[in-house]
Amino acid sequence: MAFTWWQKAVFYQIYPRSFADGNGDGIGDFKGMIEKLDYLKDLGVDALWLSPHFPSPNWDCGYDVSDYCGVAPEYGSLEDFKTFMHEAHSRDLKVILDLVANHTSDEHPWFIESKSSRDNPKADWYVWADTPPNNWQSCFDGDAWTYSPERNQYYYHYFMRQQPDLNWHNPAVEQAMWDAVRFWLDLGVDGYRLDAIGTIFEDPALTPHSLPFGLATLRHKSDIASTPEEKKAVSEYWEEMFKYQHSQPGVHELMKKLRSILDEYPGDRVLVAEDDNVEYMGNGSDELHMVFNFPLMRSDGPLSPEWVRANQHARQAELAKISADAWACNPLGNHDSQRVYTRFGDGTHDAERARLSLALLLSLRGTPFLYNGEEIGMTDLIITDPAKLRDTIAPWYYERMIHELGIDPQEAARRAGAFSRDRNRTPTQWSNTANAGFSPADVQTWLPVNPNYADGINVRDQQSDPISLLNFYKRLLRVRKNSPALIEGEQTFLHEDNNEYLTILRQTANQTVLVVLSFSKNRQALDFSDLPYKNAHTLFSSAGRSKSEENLKEIHLGAFEVFIAELH
Ligand code: NOJ
Repeated sequence: MAFTWWQKAVFYQIYPRSFADGNGDGIGDFKGMIEKLDYLKDLGVDALWLSPHFPSPNWDCGYDVSDYCGVAPEYGSLEDFKTFMHEAHSRDLKVILDLVANHTSDEHPWFIESKSSRDNPKADWYVWADTPPNNWQSCFDGDAWTYSPERNQYYYHYFMRQQPDLNWHNPAVEQAMWDAVRFWLDLGVDGYRLDAIGTIFEDPALTPHSLPFGLATLRHKSDIASTPEEKKAVSEYWEEMFKYQHSQPGVHELMKKLRSILDEYPGDRVLVAEDDNVEYMGNGSDELHMVFNFPLMRSDGPLSPEWVRANQHARQAELAKISADAWACNPLGNHDSQRVYTRFGDGTHDAERARLSLALLLSLRGTPFLYNGEEIGMTDLIITDPAKLRDTIAPWYYERMIHELGIDPQEAARRAGAFSRDRNRTPTQWSNTANAGFSPADVQTWLPVNPNYADGINVRDQQSDPISLLNFYKRLLRVRKNSPALIEGEQTFLHEDNNEYLTILRQTANQTVLVVLSFSKNRQALDFSDLPYKNAHTLFSSAGRSKSEENLKEIHLGAFEVFIAELH
């Protein structure tokens, strides 16, 4: 099997608003991103995924696009984008963009025209109904049908009311979106991360869900579910509430068309879906190249060897059904989920577990996706003042908790802050100076800076500290880059009955690499003498090792150690 660039690459997700503020206005921008390209190259990643950089009223922080072929003015101009692409490519860094195809902003000219009358040329570009035809919910803000006085009709939105769903049954919509896709491909982008493809089509029979309550109640039920039974019931409610609004027929045909557009371009451009359903990979070569292995990150608490093995076995089996070459894609965090450091911490060994998480991602078979700031161990910041929340789904929930569910305002504020994705989108912490070096000291940043930048959680301090998370990460990225087995190798788990440590064997024809991740605070002696090798040559260890050659009969593993060795 010949491996393509996106199988070998480590991807790094940039959240443009929070990554680097080049013009000092409190908001990230292309100038800032360009200035940080050397940092990213030096870090050792290979490809960048940019969350939306398009003009947007920002009801959903860029995922409500008002011009698919433009650049948000606060991020710069199209020229700035081109410079960014050129500078990234000249450093051998690939760039993929976010394609938000399910919906536009309600300020997109397409929607403004569509809602202006019932017989304009774009009247049928969105999903309209005379009266709400069912009890469908938006997964962000309650009723999925919103009234438009101009048409005296209702439009459908799976996400916020400011994000009307496009009518993909209309060929003109398809054409317009493919034109936008080509616009950026023509400028040289290396592919797309596809937002929310599962929700592009709805049940044509418009079947209502059967629950006697709406989104706010369900959210609250999820919030307070604590026992396994309650959690199971809640996940069944979610499935029931939304099952007629996603995974409907038609998407595969669209994905095939999109794939054929990409295939017209040279350079193995890539498509990766924000969806964990491997069926979007079609027959392995006619739809998407990859889908995210989200189940890996859905553990209830810290990751464990057992959890990872079960996930990997299930995943590899699903991929094998697609094709022998179907390739995995592993994330542990992104702009929608808690920070890795927070999410997989246990309150006692958070730092150790953060290192394990990062090492895990770089050791598993498949393309790793890293979210900006994880390399320095940024943590969630809970915003408790509702007026400061910017992720608008949180204020919506806050209002509903108080006015619909009768929850005490203080408690509602706490819950809204914990629920808001602002917690994991705060500005990147570049240094131990005011505003974490993200923006000048006297500037109000778009989201508050996490004050823990002053406690060593910033790039500059960690660059000069040889044992920092950042340097741990850099070293690991280099080990991976220099070990074909870690990139291309087959994957086998050893000692599968053990839940204290995870052992992964990665093998190509010419190299065998053993990865051992200790999830335990105890030291352990491990015996790998049943392997057809004698010695292990250390490639990486997070603990001090006195010798570089270990005998496979007895390897002493330190507490929470990350140990990677080449076997011979
Ligand atoms: C998924 C994106 O990751 C999320 O941030 C966004 O809110 C929704 N899709 C809607 O576009």
